[in-house]
Amino acid sequence: MIEIGSVVEGVVTGIQTYGAFVMLENGQTGLIHISEITAKFVKNVGDFVTIGDRIKVKVLAIDDKTGNAKLSIKALEEMPARKHRRQETLSSRMVSKISDPHSFDTLTQYRDQVIQEKKKESEDFPMISIELNKAFVGDLTPAYQAKVNAVHDMIHNRTGQGADYLGWLDQPVNYDVSEMLRIVQVADTIRRDYDVLVVCGIGGSYLGARAALDFLQGSLPGKKEIEILFFGNTFSPTYTAQMMAYLKTKKFAVNVISKSGTTTETAIAFRLLKQLAEEKYGKDKARRAIVATTDKARGVLKTLADEEGYETFMIPDDIGGRYSVITAVGLFPLAVAGFDPREILLGSAAARLDTATPDLTKNVAYQLSIARDYWYHQGKTVDLLVTYEPHLVMLGEWWKQLFGESEGKEGKGMFPASVNFSTDLHSLGQFVQEGTKTIVETILTIQNPILNYTVPRDAADKDGLNYLAGKSMSFINEQAMKGTLAAHADTGHVPNIQLVLKENTPFSLGYLFFFFMKVCAMSAYLLEINPFNQPGVEVYKKNMFQLLGKK
Ligand code: PA5
Repeated sequence: MIEIGSVVEGVVTGIQTYGAFVMLENGQTGLIHISEITAKFVKNVGDFVTIGDRIKVKVLAIDDKTGNAKLSIKALEEMPARKHRRQETLSSRMVSKISDPHSFDTLTQYRDQVIQEKKKESEDFPMISIELNKAFVGDLTPAYQAKVNAVHDMIHNRTGQGADYLGWLDQPVNYDVSEMLRIVQVADTIRRDYDVLVVCGIGGSYLGARAALDFLQGSLPGKKEIEILFFGNTFSPTYTAQMMAYLKTKKFAVNVISKSGTTTETAIAFRLLKQLAEEKYGKDKARRAIVATTDKARGVLKTLADEEGYETFMIPDDIGGRYSVITAVGLFPLAVAGFDPREILLGSAAARLDTATPDLTKNVAYQLSIARDYWYHQGKTVDLLVTYEPHLVMLGEWWKQLFGESEGKEGKGMFPASVNFSTDLHSLGQFVQEGTKTIVETILTIQNPILNYTVPRDAADKDGLNYLAGKSMSFINEQAMKGTLAAHADTGHVPNIQLVLKENTPFSLGYLFFFFMKVCAMSAYLLEINPFNQPGVEVYKKNMFQLLGKK
């Protein structure tokens, strides 16, 4: 337990209007109340500290009930208050400049500087790091470097199978500036005028936005400017009926997303939404409540959108559904939720730069691809993505589609599965520990959580938990992760690949999306598979259409 009056170091894990949460080095959580930031006037806490900052604080008191520490920066009087202010970095300057929606070209102008600056900040801790000591792969570089060089050239020179769908490689730096501006502007209007946005799409046309919203907002309902719901991703009669009943009571807008414009789940849901909007608002006003994201020229949805005069965003020809999260497909719903698409694009641009080398000693994405490939060839047929935060469950769903549809063909590929620990340790942990030895675990953890909480002391200690009093939930979660890693890898002999993402921000999310897409392209090409088609998906559709009597 830390001493009152001591000066300790910690990392800022959350910012609220009333102060900043800090995780101290011993795992304990504390709060710097807004009045304890500096002697000067503080309008926004975020102007002085930012999530991920390592700072020195003085311990003023320990709350008896919660065990939380009351902290102060202001009390460190020998240090001038300015020292504790958030440094005005190039990225913060740029982000304030780009709060002008007309500044996507400013982004282009500053991008390289911002990324270099972010990289400098990350020198001791890159945005994603990989640890392979429990993956039992040894040094794979000599065996793989030549092959990786060849596949890397194939990706970057666009000479492999499906190369027409490599548009996502340059999307972080080569987007349509005027479209991005419209995304921000239309999103602002929707957020201002409606209570709910219904995102209507399936597969790659919904999972990215769904994963991103959970990642950035947490998985529990909270006070949000606008509610974002997802529809058009199921034939479920119950879900359909409940959604329609709910929307009848709400002022809702719709973002229908379909690249082909013909996907049945999405088309049925959109018919329902369009009719409800027209009944509620009248045809003219309904038109203003509908935004379509689809192919620039082809498909029923494009034709309908043109005829009806809907606001329309384009999915580039050379970007397939599951690689489209960094286009309007993912960015528009995120912008409506209040997130800045430029931060996501900057993160992706940083990952693009970091993964632009074939050098296996430097490219973390390719290190992951070859570890997977190595174990696949040793008979491991399941890649199990392990996360330790419920708000990463949907990221697992996005990841499963990415790898499942990209790799699973021609009788090849690892089956992508996901678990959320510690919850699933109480259901699937047994299988991982002692079941068939087909699994490789890929653990994805985040260094700095969005928020934190501390276990309180209890005078009676009838539950015997006082040994944890004053410990933060992130500390406990981390020990659960370490204990599980040792159990599965050392005792259970399950190879464990560990990935650590530095922060839980739009920037790091953009980074992560691009990173996994690059891992996936390399992995599929190593298996001599086209990563960008999904011919097998058509088989069920053909049968279903026949049963439904489609002409
Ligand atoms: O990755 C893909 O291309 C698919 O999974 C699609 O995203 C999914 O089938 C939805 O297709 P569409 O956007 O054409 O409605």
